[in-house]
Amino acid sequence: MIDPSLTLFGLFAFASAKPLSTRSNATNTTTVWSFAEVASSASLQWTPCFENFSCANLEVPLDYTKPDVGTINVAFLKKEALQQPAMGDILINPGGPGVSGIDYVLQGSVILERLLGTAYNIVGFDPRGVNNSGPHLDCFQGSPAIRDYYDSTYYSDVDLKCLSSMSKHFQAAGAFGDWCSRSLSHEANYANTPATARDMLQYIKVLAESRGESPNDAKLNYYGVSYGSTLGITYAALFPDHVGRMIIDGVVDAEDYYSGAWKQNLVQADEAVQGFFESCYQAGPSCAFFRNDSSAKDIERRANAILKDIEENPISVADPAFVDFPTVITGQDVRGALLLSLYSAISGFPLIASMLSGLEARNGSIMIPLLEAVQPRLLIACNDANGRYNISTVGKWHDYVRDLEMVSTYVGEVWATVIILQCRSLQFTPPANQLFYGFNTTITSHPILFTANRIDPVTSSGDKMSKLFPGSVVLKQDTIGHGLQVAQSDCISRSLQKFLECGELPPENTMCDTEVHPFQAGVKTKRIPQYPRGLGI
Ligand SMILES: *[C@@H]1O[C@H](CO)[C@@H](O)[C@H](O)[C@H]1NC(C)=O
Ligand SMILES: *[C@@H]1O[C@H](CO)[C@@H](O)[C@H](O)[C@H]1NC(C)=O
Ligand SMILES: *[C@@H]1O[C@H](CO)[C@@H](O)[C@H](O)[C@H]1NC(C)=O
Ligand SMILES: *[C@@H]1O[C@H](CO)[C@@H](O)[C@H](O)[C@H]1NC(C)=O
Ligand SMILES: *[C@@H]1O[C@H](CO)[C@@H](O)[C@H](O)[C@H]1NC(C)=O
Ligand SMILES: *[C@@H]1O[C@H](CO)[C@@H](O)[C@H](O)[C@H]1NC(C)=O
Ligand SMILES: *[C@@H]1O[C@H](CO)[C@@H](O)[C@H](O)[C@H]1NC(C)=O
Ligand SMILES: *[C@@H]1O[C@H](CO)[C@@H](O)[C@H](O)[C@H]1NC(C)=O
Repeated sequence: MIDPSLTLFGLFAFASAKPLSTRSNATNTTTVWSFAEVASSASLQWTPCFENFSCANLEVPLDYTKPDVGTINVAFLKKEALQQPAMGDILINPGGPGVSGIDYVLQGSVILERLLGTAYNIVGFDPRGVNNSGPHLDCFQGSPAIRDYYDSTYYSDVDLKCLSSMSKHFQAAGAFGDWCSRSLSHEANYANTPATARDMLQYIKVLAESRGESPNDAKLNYYGVSYGSTLGITYAALFPDHVGRMIIDGVVDAEDYYSGAWKQNLVQADEAVQGFFESCYQAGPSCAFFRNDSSAKDIERRANAILKDIEENPISVADPAFVDFPTVITGQDVRGALLLSLYSAISGFPLIASMLSGLEARNGSIMIPLLEAVQPRLLIACNDANGRYNISTVGKWHDYVRDLEMVSTYVGEVWATVIILQCRSLQFTPPANQLFYGFNTTITSHPILFTANRIDPVTSSGDKMSKLFPGSVVLKQDTIGHGLQVAQSDCISRSLQKFLECGELPPENTMCDTEVHPFQAGVKTKRIPQYPRGLGI
């Protein structure tokens, strides 16, 4: 219904790879363009692919303790280091859970090279259950149009002020679990974070063997952001002697994640909203919502009044240039668009300003493109929680909504609606050796580098997670947003590259300045398009 090029992060200029559909394959006739054409092998066999990359399908057991359960392929995509010989491979995870690391490296290798340098081969992979890696987890098998329709209707209708509406949404979330439990095979039990961590160990062991080195000494180099932080520290907790250079960015409270509660994500969300009011005030007329206000507080009051008004009087949008059919925007929609825009101050704050400016005149057209929140793939998260936090009645869900509103008055209710409720009827359980039994203080073979923005609206637990890994350090970037790549900072790139290439950690409490700021004239942020993608971590 909406031009996909208008999705939130599509609104910005970015450096991007050519769309695959317009590629010219005349230049390299040996390269393949799909993982279906890549041989699968228990050793790493690389095939030239996607013009500038190499691809491998690594065959791994579904359950490493029970090889007879079956195998799956895990897809890897490598961008060779510009500096050869490479210092090693660095595995990348962009979050989700459920986001494709293959796609991320395909689209963003240039930006990743700017951040991580060119000494290592950059290796994206699709974790088990994601896109090119088995098992197949699409609950709407072979019917993407039906899935998209379902996604678009699932969230749009709930009114948290109204019990009958909440009951209906609660039933819908349960029906989703019942549906997926029937449409997916038993292999879905094996899509979970501890198993993916084990797959990463497998990768480095097989790689060591292929080079004639001892697999027992193999070390993982890794960059993971958001959910990728949880995957990274799960690996470090399970295989502490196999830790090489690990950078853990946009740090989730992994204990909260494994508990299934997802209650710690929004701890800094309201601070991020305050950051918008202050930035807008500082920017003056270059902020579209600024109206000669005499303080940030004035801007805040106007914004709060708009939200309150929309909650009582939703806004219709009937401009065919923006919608395919007459549409109504609710307070919940505005809060969703607000949260999505907080993921990056530099690109998102100008959007919040335009949105509020339109809404103040009761014009909702401008925010239509912001409503394209993509549903995160929850199955992996539900398997990781394994029923620990089970919202089993409407009453419990109601309490959960209130709890999250206490964490963030602006966006708590959105998180309570889109994130964990759908786990409640899913009937999958990983085998005992793929459950996670909690973190303990862990000494790793090389200290971990944690990284965090000064304010992160959805993951702000770098300091807490760092304490579980003595010797680790948290490096901060002075911006508001989710993940290092929402800004640009030479100080950050230099520190990361020093860590990767020399093993050196930055001093404790380093706060790096950034070269770009919100509302700065002529700023074109170079970020990987579509990341972060929709609401999620
Ligand atoms: C490029 O690849 C496609 C699909 O493999 C093939 O149909 C087409 O002929 C190729 N074009 C060239 C110029 O090699
Ligand atoms: C094709 O790509 C592969 C892998 O990137 C590379 O080794 C090979 O040299 C390329 N061939 C040509 C003709 O560019
Ligand atoms: C491969 O690299 C060339 C040169 O940097 C670039 O123009 C092209 O878009 C790249 N192809 C892909 C599929 O990333
Ligand atoms: C998933 O894989 C398919 C087939 O290889 C590809 O066409 C598609 O672009 C991929 N999607 C993502 C998000 O990577
Ligand atoms: C802001 O104040 C200036 C000077 O007082 C005035 O010219 C301008 O129209 C005002 N702008 C708005 C948006 O009220
Ligand atoms: C509403 O906002 C849109 C997007 O900014 C704009 O194109 C349109 O002209 C506005 N409509 C009115 C009636 O001002
Ligand atoms: C949640 O609780 C309900 C009712 O007790 C139960 O039927 C369901 O299996 C539980 N779900 C999970 C994921 O444990
Ligand atoms: C942490 O300690 C608990 C209790 O001894 C144990 O069950 C658990 O497996 C440990 N966690 C890890 C990641 O080793």
